[in-house]
Amino acid sequence: MTELLLGRVLSFTADPFEAGPDAVRLDEALVIEGGHIAARGTAGALRRAWPRARVTDYGDRLISAGFIDAHVHYPQTAIIASWGKRLIDWLNSYTFPEEMRFADPAYAAGVAARYLDLTLANGTTSVCSYCTIHPASVDALMAEGQARGQRIWAGKTCMDRNAPEGLRDNPQTAHDDSAAAVAKWHGVDRLSYVITPRFSPTSSPEQLEALGALWQANPTCLMQTHLSEQLDEIEWVRGLFPSARDYLDTYEAFGLLGHGGLYGHAIHLEPRERDRLREVDASLIHCPTSNTFIGSGLFDMGGLKAAGLRIGLATDTGGGSSFSMLRTMAAAYEVAQLRGRALHPAELWWLATQGSARSLLADDRIGNIAPGMEADLVVIDLTSTPAIAQAGARAQTLWEALFPTIMLGDDRAIHAVWIGGKLAG
Ligand code: GUN
Ligand code: ZN
Repeated sequence: MTELLLGRVLSFTADPFEAGPDAVRLDEALVIEGGHIAARGTAGALRRAWPRARVTDYGDRLISAGFIDAHVHYPQTAIIASWGKRLIDWLNSYTFPEEMRFADPAYAAGVAARYLDLTLANGTTSVCSYCTIHPASVDALMAEGQARGQRIWAGKTCMDRNAPEGLRDNPQTAHDDSAAAVAKWHGVDRLSYVITPRFSPTSSPEQLEALGALWQANPTCLMQTHLSEQLDEIEWVRGLFPSARDYLDTYEAFGLLGHGGLYGHAIHLEPRERDRLREVDASLIHCPTSNTFIGSGLFDMGGLKAAGLRIGLATDTGGGSSFSMLRTMAAAYEVAQLRGRALHPAELWWLATQGSARSLLADDRIGNIAPGMEADLVVIDLTSTPAIAQAGARAQTLWEALFPTIMLGDDRAIHAVWIGGKLAG
């Protein structure tokens, strides 16, 4: 079935951080065929070219690429909004006990379905998730994402020290279980496996080395980990790896720095770390609601984008305090304001779509609306609450109309979601 959608179709022509906020185009309609975007243009022209298409008229609603959440922990769904701890205590008090429950595959399957329901309600069509140390936790998310036709990245979280009994693997099993999951899921339908050492405090040098070798053997896999989130954590890393030049070096020394490496948080970077990340064209993932909620610090979006780093945007569920990429854009705006840079709505929207797709090396497939791209779409109601409607009432431009939804919006703004060319939900 060919689908023709009418609405305000937003797409990017370039990165607005580089090309400015006009690097967008607005069309009246788009056509979906075979799960992909076939065309965008005027309603009249597309109706004439596809006279037998099924037409859905979204009126003056915005049609955008679906949101892409580039760093989440789906197993932390149930412990979102846990009170009063900073990173290390938060991990020990809330996260590790909850992740222990994923030894039960039925529990993992239940949370995976609930998590994808929640993200779908928030207009998120793709996620890149940590799982737990249990291989079945990968199977649960992959199988659920596959059934929904979603593009999902996920990996078994590897930890062999500084974690409780029951949540530790070892260098060999981390390698072998990860390799088995690569063989089982990587490249199957829209699924991709991500090599996932949690962070250097919970991996021995031997484990980091084994996972570096696995990445080298599987170069089409992404690799995800955490970097320089809190000052206490950085001190801890210094003590655990006394010969490392800095935190990044604990990855670099073991083959875990490169293009396709995703480094979550990256708040307190040394100049050497920033320069090396730029040189190898690695991806930084900004998780603003997490950084304020856990009290981690203020990511330097303005400086790092200006320096040419590849940056994606993410909720970091459940260290982050929302499943919504709208709430995440608002937090990114506020964090940048505290660093003296007002992010333009075009920059925020780009980060949540093309920017995250670029960070996952998938911007030629998802995160924008253009012929040939996969049809993952979100339809946004720009007057979803009385507060938003009155704030946008005098808008003269698209961005003035959209910014109240960025700052005040939530799942009520999500009118419809399309995944792989099919209406979802
Ligand atoms: N660092 C290591 N593990 C985690 C985690 O689960 N969440 C966050 N925010 N930081 C981490
Ligand atoms: Zn994380």
